[in-house]
Amino acid sequence: MTALTQETLSELEEIAARYPEARSGLLPMLHLVQSVEGRVTPEGIEACAEILGISAAEVSGVATFYTMYKRKPVGDYLVGVCTNTLCAVMGGDQIFERLKDHLDVGNDETTEDGKITLEHVECNAACDYAPVMMVNWEFMDNMTPQSAVQLVDDLRAGTEVSSTRGPRLCTWREAERVLAGYPDGRVDEGPGAGPSSLVGLSIARERGWTAPESDAKPQDDGKSLGAAAGSPADEADSNPTEAAAVDESSSATERGAEKDEAK
Ligand code: FES
Repeated sequence: MTALTQETLSELEEIAARYPEARSGLLPMLHLVQSVEGRVTPEGIEACAEILGISAAEVSGVATFYTMYKRKPVGDYLVGVCTNTLCAVMGGDQIFERLKDHLDVGNDETTEDGKITLEHVECNAACDYAPVMMVNWEFMDNMTPQSAVQLVDDLRAGTEVSSTRGPRLCTWREAERVLAGYPDGRVDEGPGAGPSSLVGLSIARERGWTAPESDAKPQDDGKSLGAAAGSPADEADSNPTEAAAVDESSSATERGAEKDEAK
């Protein structure tokens, strides 16, 4: 038996049906459970198991393995502070301590008004913007204890807040529904890549660096792989982030060559 509505059960079945192997749908199904229940409930686990034809223990094993799945109720906004090495030394530890004090909660606890759940998180691969915070897994870059307090105060007051590299923030349950595969129309809001992530591209352009020629042979469709597909400038115009990665790689290659020459 489950307390989930028939509508939710239908959506869980819909998600499972997206995949050749139905059990591949478990991760988004658990996100859908969180979007309606505010956490992964025993009823949600039972429902997923029944639909997928696997045991509740198998579902529970997944739900307890990944940190994005919560067994305790989450507030309207899940606020994460990166306390991994670089963010920590850049101020993440102070931010986390300041927020614990300001919100009167500990790690993985929710404020009395049910608005904010605070947790420390591991590296978000956004170290170029350290110290970084996340709200419902959207980036908040270059934070300070003061801006962190302002952020949670705005969220609690219902003031509209936008991610520094993403869309306007929605509630955690709304974000969970997006992760279940039901878009909210905000995917193109906000910048995709910020200046710090593109520094390598700027340096490469200044110095005239280009990606090395690729040995890859042209594919059947006439396109070739890697750098042979176009110049870095062409790549940057169509996909700045990817181009930055290509050019960073080029920079590393160049630096390596310089070192070799110095030997
Ligand atoms: S250490 Fe915080 S984003 Fe990498």
